[in-house]
Amino acid sequence: MNCHSGPLRFRAAERDDAGGIADVCYRTGYHGEDLEGSGRFDDRRLFALLFALYYPLYEPENAFVAVDENGRVAGYILGTTDSRAQARRFRRRMLPRILLRALAVSWWRYPESFRTLSHFSRVSAAHGAMDDVFERHPAHLHINLLAGHQRGGAGSVLIDLFEARVRAAGVAGIHLSTSELNIKALPFYRKHGYALERILSPGLWPDAPHARGMLFVKSLSGR
Ligand SMILES: CC(C)(COP(=O)(O)OP(=O)(O)OC[C@H]1O[C@@H](n2cnc3c(N)ncnc32)[C@H](O)[C@@H]1OP(=O)(O)O)[C@@H](O)C(=O)NCCC(=O)NCCS
Repeated sequence: MNCHSGPLRFRAAERDDAGGIADVCYRTGYHGEDLEGSGRFDDRRLFALLFALYYPLYEPENAFVAVDENGRVAGYILGTTDSRAQARRFRRRMLPRILLRALAVSWWRYPESFRTLSHFSRVSAAHGAMDDVFERHPAHLHINLLAGHQRGGAGSVLIDLFEARVRAAGVAGIHLSTSELNIKALPFYRKHGYALERILSPGLWPDAPHARGMLFVKSLSGR
């Protein structure tokens, strides 16, 4: 599969895209904005282990990348068709690596990242069980494009590719979460037919505790 939008080319992700995906994740990681130089989470490796690397390493069949004319990853959509199974695999494959990184490196070299990691785990525990969401909307996605490649239609190409993949797998629906501060993502998801299902509180980032998370869903059955 290959398609084009302006200077970008779209294709299925591969394990070798992991580094490029991690970079895009970091550079769009704070409510859609760049974390570079912000001092909010300087341990790039830990951030990638938490939010990006699982997908190209363990579920590349459910991920697509946008690459620029030099072959560099400029954006991606990452996801799964089965969030319950994904959560189990994540715990088995990624959690040991996250803990090893945090305890061997982050706590002394990147203490702010170590503290933020503890905050992230408290926040996700506070969100509670997602069984009903996983039941009706088993797939989930993450989509990110570097700033220079936004608003040119690439996000729409990527989400169409992912939805086609989920439909082909016979899965009934997709869920995703974002922040109420993400002024680019909110209109984008609404335009693509995602509806607000639930407010997730408290917010993910310690410096924006009142920025609530928003859980969106889209049903695919019958479409
Ligand atoms: C959100 C994102 C994936 C959208 O992809 P994109 O390629 O920029 O979006 P598209 O060009 O396909 O836009 C499709 C529609 O989404 C909406 N939209 C997208 N970006 C928007 C923006 N900055 N402001 C308002 N509406 C926007 C518009 O309705 C747009 O349709 P239009 O251009 O006809 O008005 C992209 O902006 C991005 O990666 N942002 C940073 C990372 C991020 O926030 N990811 C989501 C994390 S939850």
